[in-house]
Formats: sequence, structure tokens, C-alpha cells
Amino acid sequence: MSRSILQIGFGNFGPTHLAAWRSLGLADGLYVVDPDAQARRRCLELGLPGERVSAEISDFVDRVELVVVLAPTDRHFDVCEPLLAAGKHLFIEKPMTATLAEAEGLQDLVREQVVQVGFYFRAHPLAIRAKAEVDQGRLGELRYISARFHGYKRARGDSGVVGNDAVHFIDQANWMMGDLPVAVDAVTRDHFGRGYDDLALIRLFYPSGALAHVEAGCIQPGRWNDNIVPGATQTKEFVVAGSEGAAEIDYQSNELRLHRVRHELTGGLWRPKNQGVEMPHGTVVEPHQVVASEFAAFLDAVDGTAAPLAGIEECGVGMARILDAIYRSAETERRVAL
Ligand SMILES: NC(=O)c1ccc[n+]([C@@H]2O[C@H](COP(=O)([O-])OP(=O)(O)OC[C@H]3O[C@@H](n4cnc5c(N)ncnc54)[C@H](O)[C@@H]3O)[C@@H](O)[C@H]2O)c1
Repeated sequence: MSRSILQIGFGNFGPTHLAAWRSLGLADGLYVVDPDAQARRRCLELGLPGERVSAEISDFVDRVELVVVLAPTDRHFDVCEPLLAAGKHLFIEKPMTATLAEAEGLQDLVREQVVQVGFYFRAHPLAIRAKAEVDQGRLGELRYISARFHGYKRARGDSGVVGNDAVHFIDQANWMMGDLPVAVDAVTRDHFGRGYDDLALIRLFYPSGALAHVEAGCIQPGRWNDNIVPGATQTKEFVVAGSEGAAEIDYQSNELRLHRVRHELTGGLWRPKNQGVEMPHGTVVEPHQVVASEFAAFLDAVDGTAAPLAGIEECGVGMARILDAIYRSAETERRVAL
């Protein structure tokens, strides 16, 4: 089935999206808009025909059914508002909007349209495997999530590390927990004086009593070269620990470790009874393959055969509420209830 798709924005992440549509065999219906001439040139160099690349959304919007929003985060609301009013289905890169008020404003415009937020890691094979372990009860009762998303890279002009990086693992923590946090606390710093955080230490408190801790920053090293942004380094580690073991994911080295371990009271002491570590072998996962899986889920939602992988209520407005609470906590140095 052919599709007509408009991609708005062709910056750093643009080529990965193009490669994803190509891998799904759908790039022939793809139109791209970017106000920046250099971005459009890069798009042409990557093989998109000139008649499907423009600086103006109005050139293509009436021809397409689906729109992917890949503009800077602080532009998402202005770009999305008229598109939702026109009834378009939207795939909006994360975070959906820069503020809670903007997220609620977009939600008010949703009627029949599908809106999916680009929470990449929900479509990552290692995360899907870890989530299956959680859902099958193989990790026992969840107790703690520890996540690190940091490395030297450009401090973006459209958001801080909370909205740009931590947001991925906050969503991943909510997804693993199957719940949203009831409170958050956070410490952030703005070393560059940009008005955006460049270091964040965040704690999330879940209704079950389980905790998550997310560290994000662009002022400390990452262990690996980033596979999307040239010249950047990244650590992207996510650990979910329960009463029967843990799943430990290193997204940069493509490794998943499943720890089979529980504490038992023997001789008056709680000691770990370790049944070993499994490393289910996965093939190397390329970013465009993960994005293609997100797009496939989006198309299923548009066709009405599945719910969106990351829908507007939980992942758009719900996440905006969590981010808003994180910013308030950092400002007031207090725990904030949700
Ligand atoms: N899911 C992920 O893993 C992931 C990874 C990277 C980026 N992102 C998100 O994708 C979005 C874009 O990120 P990026 O790194 O490609 O940013 P970028 O700054 O490199 O590129 C953004 C592009 O959008 C263009 N643009 C600006 N205003 C526009 C407008 N009004 N209409 C159309 N285009 C406009 C710019 O000219 C630029 O080429 C951000 O929201 C970011 O958070 C998500």
C-alpha cells in the first residue's frame, strides 16, 4: 500500500527517518520540508527528488495523509497546531512539546487523528525483550530502575537534557513499571547559562513504592561514539531490578544481560543466590531499523489495527506533566507530587 507522508525538518535526525521510510519501501511517497537551505541540499544529496523537497509546508500539506514532525522541540506546537486542525495523523518526535500548556493545547485538537510520540526505545529490540521479562514476572516484583543517558555533545538550542535525553528513559521507566510516577524530585544545573539544563539527576516515585533514578547530561563523558550525532559520545544504560533478578541494557554496545538472582535469608544474613547471567544474543541494531519499527506501529494505529506505541495521553500530555513537575522540583529543591 502506498502512503503520502510529509517529513517536517531534516536536521541531524532527518537522514535516519529517511532511511527508515526507505527500509519500509515507502520513501516514494515521502515529501520533505525544511526552511534551511543546507538541510534541503543534504536531503537532495541523499536522493530525494527536487519536486518533493521544499521550504514551505503549504507546498505539500494538502497532498499528504501522514505527517512526521522533526523540527526543533520548541517549534513543535506551532507546526502541529494547524496540522491537527486540518485532521492530519501526526508522528511527533519527542518530547511532544516544550511545555505542558502546549501539550494540552494539542490534545484539545485531537478528534479521530492518531498522534504518536517518537519514543524510540519502546521499539528497540533489547527494550522489548526486557519488557517481556518484566511482563512475564521473571524479574519478580520491580524495585528499582537506574538509567544513565549522558555524554559530551552539543548543548542543543531547543531544549535541555531533561527534555531531550532524560525523557527517553523516564518514558522507558514508566513503560517497564506499567505506571506513571506519583512524585518526582530533581536537581539540575545550567553551566552554560543557556536557560536550559545541561545536567540532571532525577528520581521518580511509583505507586508500588518502586523508585527510578535517571542521570542525564552533556557535560560528562559518554563511553561510546554516538550512532546518530557525529562527534558526540554517549552512555545509554538502563537497568531494571526486581526481587528475582534484573535486566541490564547497554544501548550503545547492543547488550542485554539478564541476571537471575534473588536474596535469601541464610545464617541470619540476606545473601544473593545467583543463578547466573544470560546474555541473549541479539544482532546489532541500527537506529533506522528502530525508527522503522516505530513507523510500522504508527501505520498500524492509523489503519486502526493497533493502539499507538506511544500515544498522546500518556506520552504527550502525561510526559509533559512529569517534565513540568521535574522543572518545578529543580527550581524549588522540593519533591513534587503529581
Ligand atoms: N527519538 C530520538 O531518539 C530522537 C533523536 C534525535 C532527535 N530527536 C528529536 O527530533 C527533533 C529534531 O531533532 P534534530 O536533532 O534533527 O534537530 P536539528 O536541530 O538538527 O534539526 C531540526 C531541523 O528542523 C528545521 N526546522 C526548524 N524550524 C522548522 C519549521 N518551523 N518547520 C520545519 N523545519 C524546521 C531546521 O532547519 C533543522 O534542519 C527534536 O524534537 C529532537 O528532540 C529525537
